Amino acid sequence: MTVTRVAVIGGGRNCEHDVSLASATAVADALERAGHQAVRLTIDPAGAWRDRAGDPIGLAAAVGALGSCAVAFPVLHGPHGEDGTLAALCDLAGVPCVGSPLGAGALAMDKWVTKLVAGALGIATAPGRLLTRTDTYTFTHPVVVKPVAAGSSRGVTLVRHAARLGPALDAAFGYDDRVLVEDLVTGREIDVAVLGRPDGSRVVAPALEIVVPADAIFDHAAKYSGEPDFRVPAALDDAARDRLAEAAVRMYDALGCAGVARVDFFLTARGPVLNEVNTMPGLTAQSQVPRMFAASGMPFEALLDLLVRDAVPS
Ligand SMILES: Nc1ncnc2c1ncn2[C@@H]1O[C@H](COP(=O)(O)OP(=O)(O)O)[C@@H](O)[C@H]1O
Ligand SMILES: [Mg+2]
Repeated sequence: MTVTRVAVIGGGRNCEHDVSLASATAVADALERAGHQAVRLTIDPAGAWRDRAGDPIGLAAAVGALGSCAVAFPVLHGPHGEDGTLAALCDLAGVPCVGSPLGAGALAMDKWVTKLVAGALGIATAPGRLLTRTDTYTFTHPVVVKPVAAGSSRGVTLVRHAARLGPALDAAFGYDDRVLVEDLVTGREIDVAVLGRPDGSRVVAPALEIVVPADAIFDHAAKYSGEPDFRVPAALDDAARDRLAEAAVRMYDALGCAGVARVDFFLTARGPVLNEVNTMPGLTAQSQVPRMFAASGMPFEALLDLLVRDAVPS
């Protein structure tokens, strides 16, 4: 096999910094186990680039390091990374990049725009309102309040009573200047991983169900303190499985995604309701996407090797 020199970028100037560090370490380690060479770069919480030793190197040297590699693998979640920022930097630097390009990253990072795109495709999402800090909102029924662009459930609150609305809005505005207030969706949480191949084919891994306790959301503590209850493959009948896979691929293509994306749904009595699209999903071996591909017989190392090989121009 060909050994590829891969710049693995982790961290980032956002609330998902630590989650990204875990993903980036897992990716770099797995790529090395697969026989590749990983050049580990980190963006610290203040936005400064650091080398493997943790020393600050500045943007120019970072771009030089990217340029010394055959491909960059940005493993950043959230704003200033997953939103297309790093794909754009790689594009300008002329370095091929694993994953979605700028446009798809920016569109998918924006949960309001994702809703508009889904609506245009006839894919259901939770009815919701977009609020800025100057807007007023009157509570009438249970809602989920969330920042338009964040992740790892930061600033996401389930609000069942009017008294909880104010603190929930404050929490969400702590992460973004725009906030979504969405109707509470009742259904099973099902994640679908879509892998786009350079020949235009799309691989959909077996879906994963996140079992969330009744009356709760999949919040930050449930995600990262303890063992989330994932079921892979999710128990689905053929019709539901097909509808979810079709909706996931249509969202992937409409947004212009590349590499692997995780398309998250609620499966309700009336069918799938799209929640969000993650263009750089969690990539530790225990994260949903690697678990889903493992269920189809593709080990973590093989998935990462494929992502890297697909990103290098032939
Ligand atoms: N409209 C909704 N109805 C019910 N639960 C929701 C809704 N929106 C979000 N949630 C719950 O909150 C969790 C986190 O919200 P999500 O929009 O996925 O934000 P993040 O990008 O931080 O993962 C979801 O996994 C789900 O459990
Ligand atoms: Mg989510």
